[in-house]
Amino acid sequence: MTDAGLRATPIDTSKPHSARMYDYFLGGKDNYPVDAEAAEQVVSLFPAVRDMARTNRRFMHRASRLLAERGVRQFLDIGTGIPTEPNLHQIVQGIVPDARVVYADNDPIVLRHAEALLHSTREGRTAYVHGDVREPGRILAAARETLDFAQPIALSLVALLHLVADEDEPGRIVGELLEPLAPGSCLTLSHATGDFDPETWERVVEVYRKGGTPAQVRSRDEFTGFFTGLELVDPGVVLAAEWHPELGERHGGEEIPLYVGVGHKR
Ligand SMILES: C[S@@+](CC[C@H](N)C(=O)[O-])C[C@H]1O[C@@H](n2cnc3c(N)ncnc32)[C@H](O)[C@@H]1O
Repeated sequence: MTDAGLRATPIDTSKPHSARMYDYFLGGKDNYPVDAEAAEQVVSLFPAVRDMARTNRRFMHRASRLLAERGVRQFLDIGTGIPTEPNLHQIVQGIVPDARVVYADNDPIVLRHAEALLHSTREGRTAYVHGDVREPGRILAAARETLDFAQPIALSLVALLHLVADEDEPGRIVGELLEPLAPGSCLTLSHATGDFDPETWERVVEVYRKGGTPAQVRSRDEFTGFFTGLELVDPGVVLAAEWHPELGERHGGEEIPLYVGVGHKR
C-alpha cells in the first residue's frame, strides 16, 4: 500500500482494538466506546489489569534504559502502541542522543499518532513502519532504511506476542527477526500468563478473541522458549516485579502475571 493509501486506512470503531484497549487501561484518551466496553469486561474479570499495563510500561522503561546504558545504540520496537510518554525513543535518546529507533505497529490509529509524534523528533533518528509482525521480512526491509544491521540492535516485542496465536508461529517469527541481527543484539520481551489463574485468563483471552484479536496467554516454559539460542541477561525470565527492581520506576508486585526477559545474541 502507498503512504497515501495507508493514511487513508480507516480506523475501525465497530470492533475493539488491542492498542486502544491498552490505551484505556493506561488512562489515555485515544479509545472509543467499543474499546472501553471490551476493556471494562477485562477489568471485571481481572481488576488489576490497569496496574498490569503500567507494570509493563515501567518494565519497558527499565529494560530500554539498561540497554542504552550498556551501549546499545539502535532499537527496533514492534507493537509500539499509541504513544504514551515517555516513549522508548525519549528514554534511549535521553541517554544516547544519536540512538536510532524504528517503531512498528499494525494499527492505523498508531500510524496517525506516530506521524504527529515523529514530526517533533530529530530527523532521521526515529522512524515508524506500518507493518504486521506476522510479516517480519517486510518490517526488517523497512527498518534497514534507518538502522545499520552490521551493528547491534535491541529488538523489543513488549506485550506483543500474547496477541499472536500459535497458528501464526510466534517462535518462527522471533527467529526470523533475530536472524539478520548482528552479534551483541538483544531481545526484550514481556508476555501475559495464565499460569497463576488459568480460568480467569481463558475468559480474558475470549474477550479479545471475540473482538477479532488472536490473543493467547502462555506458560513460563513457552515464554522462555522465545529466547532459544540467546543468553538471558540477569535475572533471566521472571515476573516483571522481579526484573531489576533496583533500577526504580517499578509498578505492581508479584500479583501481576506478566513474564519478562531480555536475551543477548552472541
Ligand atoms: C498491548 S499493546 C503494547 C504496546 C507497547 N509495546 C507497550 O508495551 O507499552 C500491543 C500493541 O501491539 C500491536 N499489535 C497487535 N498485533 C500486532 C501485529 N500482528 N503486528 C504488529 N503490531 C501488533 C497493537 O496494535 C498494540 O499497539
